[in-house]
Amino acid sequence: MKKDIRKQYNNFANDFSINQKEKNQINREYLYKYVTNVNNKKVLDLCCGDGIDVNYFNNLDADVTGIDASSELIELAKEKYDNGTFHVGLAEELPYEDNNFDIIYSKYAIMTSKNMQPIFNEVHRTLKKGGEFIYLVTHPFRQFMERKNLSSDYFLQTYVEANILDDTVTVIEPTHTMNEYFNSDFFSKFELLDFKEVYDPAAEAVHGGKYPGFFIIKARKK
Ligand SMILES: C[S@@+](CC[C@H](N)C(=O)[O-])C[C@H]1O[C@@H](n2cnc3c(N)ncnc32)[C@H](O)[C@@H]1O
Repeated sequence: MKKDIRKQYNNFANDFSINQKEKNQINREYLYKYVTNVNNKKVLDLCCGDGIDVNYFNNLDADVTGIDASSELIELAKEKYDNGTFHVGLAEELPYEDNNFDIIYSKYAIMTSKNMQPIFNEVHRTLKKGGEFIYLVTHPFRQFMERKNLSSDYFLQTYVEANILDDTVTVIEPTHTMNEYFNSDFFSKFELLDFKEVYDPAAEAVHGGKYPGFFIIKARKK
């Protein structure tokens, strides 16, 4: 894979922005349930896309910054919402000071990176002690179902195409195992507060059946 797929949204920023507003309802519902008490809090939307959630939480009197790898989506965010602070950048190299945020959340994004470790390190570094980290990602089981060959090796990382937003957008993601998200390094940094697997009707059921489209967790920096 030659191109940096973390920047692939530059290729379909407008389509994503138009379709995600109406078709991303269930995951958004869960994000808004898990990210609570934002009033007067310093918040980071990690991989903020077109800024829709930055705007939502800013309207609840949070002080939200959004960062995303896609310069096109950040341009759209700046055009749409004048109440947010937006930066182009990578989750692996956050341009923020240590112990800076009360809450960092991320929705349907960090699984685009091959390796979670640098991201968890950066979230841990930039969160205040006791600060909350909420993230929602494509469920590894769904990524396994998106493999062309179901007899392939779950533990071997490969790339899959995911048709999302009712087939309006196709993205490429590296596969992950549950263990990449939950392991001793993660638990040395964060205390797990909540975890939920959720069926997502907006994601294609590749081999039929009903299975979790994403999981969402809430954790606290130790
Ligand atoms: C499916 S979109 C979700 C956007 C937004 N969180 C939402 O729910 O509307 C995934 C976003 O993650 C961004 N992204 C993926 N990997 C990234 C990384 N390592 N650093 C920064 N942004 C990244 C993409 O540019 C894209 O905007």
